[in-house]
Amino acid sequence: MRLRKIPNASELVGNHPNFVSEPEKYKGKWTRYFQNTNPLHIEIGSGKGRFITTLARQNKDINYIALERQVSVLAKLTGKIPDTELKNLAVVNADAELLPQFFSPGEISRIYLNFSDPWPKKRHAKRRLTNSRFLEIYKVLLKDDGIISFKTDNRDFFEYSIEQFELSGYSLINITYDLHKSPLADGNVTTEYEERFLKQGLPIYALTARKDILPPLY
Ligand SMILES: C[S@@+](CC[C@H](N)C(=O)[O-])C[C@H]1O[C@@H](n2cnc3c(N)ncnc32)[C@H](O)[C@@H]1O
Repeated sequence: MRLRKIPNASELVGNHPNFVSEPEKYKGKWTRYFQNTNPLHIEIGSGKGRFITTLARQNKDINYIALERQVSVLAKLTGKIPDTELKNLAVVNADAELLPQFFSPGEISRIYLNFSDPWPKKRHAKRRLTNSRFLEIYKVLLKDDGIISFKTDNRDFFEYSIEQFELSGYSLINITYDLHKSPLADGNVTTEYEERFLKQGLPIYALTARKDILPPLY
């Protein structure tokens, strides 16, 4: 996401009450941070935050973490949260590569990947957030019945992601090649990017992937 640099973005984000400056301190202890044992849902690459702030307002019994690596973008997200309003949302400024430093195995119930950068060049495939390298990391951090929800406007990226999810042993459910013309549109919360593509009349591709733990063979 390209955005004009906000000169005081680090300060704006750093001073916000929902910002967590040392997320590694809460590895395996997010229940302590949120002071409850509600399920933990994270969005990777939250952008300007329309999606996750809406969900956090709608579902007070779920704890949310917005992970975003660009601080200028995060400043837009924190700008959407009046101080002290959302106690069930934590904001983290970091790259997805660092997830294992922030979460213990089985700590996350759900991961959202919304309009992740498609990295179309083959030599950049490893950077895609649905590359099997990342899918293996998510698998460790998700609970046994954990799920990943993925939406994109890019058909090639979507088809690549389906292959990667299958290679990594996830079960795919609710696959749609036109989310907004499907029954799954009901209750769908849109992101900033999604709104832009919808205005252009473009289809949105979406799926849910479930981490499946097979029972032992004996
Ligand atoms: C195309 S934008 C989509 C933003 C938002 N999800 C939406 O749908 O409006 C992708 C966002 O993911 C962030 N991002 C990309 N790779 C990331 C990574 N490895 N770790 C954390 N954030 C990442 C980018 O900085 C950018 O803000």
